[in-house]
Amino acid sequence: GAEAVVIFNQGNDPTREALIVGTLGEDHGITIPVVGGSFANGVALAQAGSTAHVRILPSETRTDVNVIAELPGKNRNNVVFAGAHLDSETEGPGINDNGSGSAAILETALQLAKIKPQNTIRFAWWGAEELGLIGSSAYVEELSQAERDRIALYLNYDMVGSPNYIFQVYDADESSFPAPVVVPPGSTAIEDLYESYYTWKGQPYDDAEFSGRSDYQAFIEAGIPSGGLFTGAEVVKTAEQQAIWGGVAGESFDQCYHIACDDIGNLDYKALEVNSDLIAFAQLTFAYSTESVNG
Ligand code: PHE
Ligand code: ZN
Ligand code: ZN
Ligand code: ZN
Repeated sequence: GAEAVVIFNQGNDPTREALIVGTLGEDHGITIPVVGGSFANGVALAQAGSTAHVRILPSETRTDVNVIAELPGKNRNNVVFAGAHLDSETEGPGINDNGSGSAAILETALQLAKIKPQNTIRFAWWGAEELGLIGSSAYVEELSQAERDRIALYLNYDMVGSPNYIFQVYDADESSFPAPVVVPPGSTAIEDLYESYYTWKGQPYDDAEFSGRSDYQAFIEAGIPSGGLFTGAEVVKTAEQQAIWGGVAGESFDQCYHIACDDIGNLDYKALEVNSDLIAFAQLTFAYSTESVNG
């Protein structure tokens, strides 16, 4: 019969069921109805209403890592921290999500290695973000309160070169965290720095909500002022946004979000360049002073 792709809910993302595990006609002992005709990743399913016989993969335990790099400043007790997740979804190479942020902070780190900053500079390439912010959460959880207190601020870069981009800055006043979690007040000064840079460069920007969908989450929960940049994922560009940033209205900011075509072609190089410069600018500015953020 026809080939079927059967999906199971894997991992902790409720919006997405993953993994091709069987074909129609092969009996793996379990029967589930096929519920749809196709999926966003373009893999064709058998007719809705048909039945597939599939195998459930056993759950497994794996070890993953965060990569942390630090450049000591004159002040070891004031850490300016930037992070980007290094993992991707299994379906694709993850170039915009999140090779873009990972590469931008890597180049920033290489360049800033040439200076002796006032403050200490730290970078993290997080593991297992896509599995539920696992690397960044574990990292913050394992820090002592004294170590958390040394962190002046955290800057998050997840998807900074989307092919149908808009420039967005995490807004200190817009979050969906349930009480009592609040965005630490110093975060406003971080947002202001990004926005003044875009203004300086003649680039329009908008707010992004702190939705809890990226690695800033654990830092905000720990009371550390946070910010970051984002050029958009699955949300569809409006005509109004097209008038401001160009690109294609009616298409997602990243049509290859979480799928195989998030490859080296899936970037807007202008967006990536503007944001890479801004990422370096922010890191260098805060390396000299975090006074605006921490008083
Ligand atoms: N964290 C999301 C991902 O890695 C990207 C994202 C960030 C989406 C912020 C929406 C808002 O897939
Ligand atoms: Zn992702
Ligand atoms: Zn991401
Ligand atoms: Zn704002």
